[in-house]
This record gives sequence, C-alpha cells and structure tokens, in this order.
Amino acid sequence: MQKKGTILSGMRPTGALHLGNYLGALENWIRLQDDYNCFFFIADYHALTTGYEDTGELKNNITDLLAGWLAAGLDPNKSTFFIQSDIKEHAELHLLFSMIVPLSWLYRCPTYKDQLSQMKDKNITTYGFLGYPCLQAADILMYKADFVPVGEDQLPHVELTREIARRFNFLYGCELFPEPQSLLTKAKVLPGTDGRKMSKSYNNTIAFSDNPETVNKKIMSMITDPARIHKTDPGHPEVCTVYAYHKIFSENEVPEIEHQCRNGEIGCVACKKKLAANVAKVMTPIYERRQEWVNRLDDIRDIINEGNKKARSVAQKTMAEVREAMKVGW
Ligand code: TRP
Ligand code: SF4
Repeated sequence: MQKKGTILSGMRPTGALHLGNYLGALENWIRLQDDYNCFFFIADYHALTTGYEDTGELKNNITDLLAGWLAAGLDPNKSTFFIQSDIKEHAELHLLFSMIVPLSWLYRCPTYKDQLSQMKDKNITTYGFLGYPCLQAADILMYKADFVPVGEDQLPHVELTREIARRFNFLYGCELFPEPQSLLTKAKVLPGTDGRKMSKSYNNTIAFSDNPETVNKKIMSMITDPARIHKTDPGHPEVCTVYAYHKIFSENEVPEIEHQCRNGEIGCVACKKKLAANVAKVMTPIYERRQEWVNRLDDIRDIINEGNKKARSVAQKTMAEVREAMKVGW
C-alpha cells in the first residue's frame, strides 16, 4: 500500500509508562502506523540532557518502554523502532547542526526557560541541555520526516527544526531537508488520580505495570465532589476527577452520569465502579500483554536489532548527503 509520508516521533526513557502517555501519544501513534511510514525511537540521549548524573535505571527504562509500546499495540511489522544512541549518525548530525544554529534560537525556546526554572534541584545549565532542541532537529531531519506527532509543549522544537532545515538548505545551496510539519495530538488530557496533572513525580498515575486490582483500588480511592456525603446530595461533576475520567472512558454514558450525579441519583461508589469497569477494558489487555513481553526480552532485542538496522541505513544515506553538501571529510 502506498503510504502517506514519513512520520517520526520519540519518547524519553524516564520510567514507567502510564495511562497519560497512552492517551497523550501512544494511542495516536498506533493509529498512524497503518497509513504512514513510521519511525518511533527511544530518545536516550535526550534523557541524558536532564538526567546525566544518575544513569543507573536507563537500560531498565528502555526495556520497560519497549515492552509498553508493544503491549499498547505498536507493531514492529508496521513501524520501525530504534534506539537513538545506537544510531551514531544522530550525534554526528547534531554536531554539524550545532555549527549553524545561532545561540539565540536556542535561548528563546520556551522549553529552555521553563525547564531551567522548574528543575531547580538539578544542574542543567549545561551545553547539552541548551542544545537539546538541535539534537531533536537532527532526529527528525535524519529521516526526512514529513510529520512529527507531538504534544503542544514540543511545537516550538518542530518550528526550530523547520528553521534549521531552511538554514541548512540555504547555506549549502541544496534541497536536502524537507520542512516537517507537526501533527498536534488531539489533546485528551487526563488528570492524575488525585486531580493534579498525571505525573510519576506526583505518584498519581495509572501505570501499564499496575495489575487490575491495583488499578481498581486507585480508582475506588479517587477524590470526588466533597459536597456529596449522601447518595441523594446533588453533585457537581465538573469538580470531580472521576467524572473527568468518565468523559474519556465512558463516552456514551456521560450524559446519564451527569444527570444522575446532579440529581443525587447515583452514589459515588457505584459511579466509580462503572468507571473502573471501563478503564479495565483498556488497561487490562495492556497489562497482560506487557507481562508477556517482559518475559520475552530476547524477542524485544531482535525487534530492536532489526529496527536499528533499518534506521541506520536511512541515517547513513542522509549523512553521506550532508557531508557532501557541507563538503566535510576528505
Ligand atoms: N523531546 C521529546 C520529549 O522530550 C522527545 C523527542 C526527542 C522527540 N526527539 C524527538 C519527539 C523527535 C519527536 C521528534 O518528549
Ligand atoms: Fe463524581 Fe460520580 Fe460522585 Fe458525581 S457521582 S461526584 S461524577 S463520582
């Protein structure tokens, strides 16, 4: 089948995948793999830009991420998976881009300022951290990706990638790099089980590795509308985290749940049970498939070796063109 273009996206191996990652990115990636030539990679160099001090968990996190991708439904027969640091061409292209990228382009990236102020506990005033959007541009342009599925926070990086592509083509009088477009993931933002943003650091996630009982427990202990003490108390679904989840997991039942809550016709326990059943429909199969994959590490290794091989051959071809255009090497 003729595919509609090349897609590339990556994830940092920073720890257990959770429902937020599934709804925010993976579900979308899985849908795209039939229609596009997809490259999905583990951005382990990117993890180093903020986590260079303690790398002890890096390898485990990579395996964990791969098992999660496969469990969620990414398919090695449709897409190419690879590990960024296994394709050394990424480092080379990053270096060459670093020669042509003005510092001002990097300083003005909103993620640079945001993260500097958020990660006060880490020293990220490093060369690598400032340059990480340039590394991201190398990831994308290496495969001449047409589309890059990303969340909103990453849009400036795709824009920067387009600028780097233009600058490179202009400086070396070529048309080597196409300008990629962002594919903004339709934001299905799910709060954590405590109502704050879902994040590992808040300990409020529903992880792929949580067994069905744990998931059930987490849902049953979610905070609801504090105004509801008795079943007959009228509720305010808009302040309730359980309701926010229903909007994503119980689409057809939402009007009914809203009505029953507002009129005190359903108790919160019953309401949560309904939700738990719907969440289980999505998460139990992922959990079960993940358990299988974590026992098949040799197969995961084969999948990555295969993906790395494909990615490397594209990367080598691009780098030959880049070196030729820039006249580097002898
Ligand atoms: N920077 C992205 C993140 O932190 C991960 C990433 C690295 C990426 N390279 C990429 C995403 C290329 C899309 C395309 O989440
Ligand atoms: Fe939330 Fe449901 Fe309770 Fe209403 S009935 S407050 S939506 S848990």
